[in-house]
Amino acid sequence: MAPDATEQFQEKCEVVLRPELQDALVRLENVSKIFPGGIVGLDAVDLDIAAGEFLTLLGPSGCGKTTSLRVIAGFESPTSGKVLLDGRDITGLRPFERPVNTVFQDYALFPHMDVAENVGFGLSLRKLSGADQARRVREALDMVGLADKLRARVSELSGGQRQRVALARAIVCEPRVLLLDEPLSALDAHLREQMQVELKRLQARLGTTFVMVTHDQTEALSISDRIVVMNKGRIEQIAPPATLYDRPATKFVASFIGTMNLLQSRFVGRDRERLRFAAGELPLEATSDSGETPAAGDIRTIGVRPEDLLAASQAAEGTAPARVSGVVFHGRTVRLHAELGQGISIVIDAPRRADGFQFNVGDVAHISLRRGASCPMLSS
Ligand SMILES: Nc1ncnc2c1ncn2[C@@H]1O[C@H](COP(=O)(O)OP(=O)(O)O)[C@@H](O)[C@H]1O
Ligand SMILES: [Mg+2]
Repeated sequence: MAPDATEQFQEKCEVVLRPELQDALVRLENVSKIFPGGIVGLDAVDLDIAAGEFLTLLGPSGCGKTTSLRVIAGFESPTSGKVLLDGRDITGLRPFERPVNTVFQDYALFPHMDVAENVGFGLSLRKLSGADQARRVREALDMVGLADKLRARVSELSGGQRQRVALARAIVCEPRVLLLDEPLSALDAHLREQMQVELKRLQARLGTTFVMVTHDQTEALSISDRIVVMNKGRIEQIAPPATLYDRPATKFVASFIGTMNLLQSRFVGRDRERLRFAAGELPLEATSDSGETPAAGDIRTIGVRPEDLLAASQAAEGTAPARVSGVVFHGRTVRLHAELGQGISIVIDAPRRADGFQFNVGDVAHISLRRGASCPMLSS
């Protein structure tokens, strides 16, 4: 075989022969954290984090995201349950004994040190020659695009640059797992979007497992391989971004990720995979991940994305009339708020039309489900 063909072959063998590569790098096993006063931080959390993945913990304030990171880092010991790394129980190890580094929300840089000293700080505890240290500091700063700021004072840097120094300081020690607690929350929207792309690129280049915390669902959707949605110390759903968006498992996930109409709907009947419902007069088609078929007349919550609804000026087969109560300009689309009757409010994202029919408050729009759209049937 040609040398590169041999290499490819060996790479394939490695994946086949080392099944442990597919196992969890980090595993939380039935982890609970109860704070003094009985405050629940984590409630029986089971979580597998794969080697090399970009995993995001997403949820509202107080749901247990930071506590999860602190338990993985060793800053917090669980009340019950175990933390495993490579199958080894590390629950009792202290933070510096774990191959884990954290980028804190406020960066926690040393203001009296320059950039190189900040980045080298973690390395200074290791037995490395001065030359090796300096080389690794330069490499880490190069990775985050700050090679020219080696001797700059932290106080001279912009918010985005400080963010990068904090990143460089965390990766210079070559951790197995990098924990990032709301790393971009201090940046303005534009810089934040740019840093999301850079963070993802950095993770791909390093191949390091990243576990990031955010309360921003757009950020989670754009950056993650998988997202863990948390609520009140528990995991609601773990899935890749597109699955979470298309097939949220619960009402909580559906309402937290993007905008979703949660429509109380009556079961009408089944055509093969399609479950037919009606929300008031609006016909809907749903899918059930559980395979459950409701009984005729049963009421279920169906999740319908605003972009899966059409608004027309004329009634037709499959449409239901709705009174427009609000029109919000969103750029490429216009968001219509409308009342379907029977107390059902609905949100529709209609393409912006320079020509033709433009809806105004008080108009009647004829609403229908986009052909081919399938909407999740949600559990509570
Ligand atoms: N050291 C602590 N002492 C008491 N309660 C805490 C402590 N740390 C966190 N909590 C509580 O645990 C819950 C989860 O907190 P946290 O993990 O910080 O949430 P998040 O990062 O998702 O906003 C919250 O109710 C919070 O008030
Ligand atoms: Mg937090």
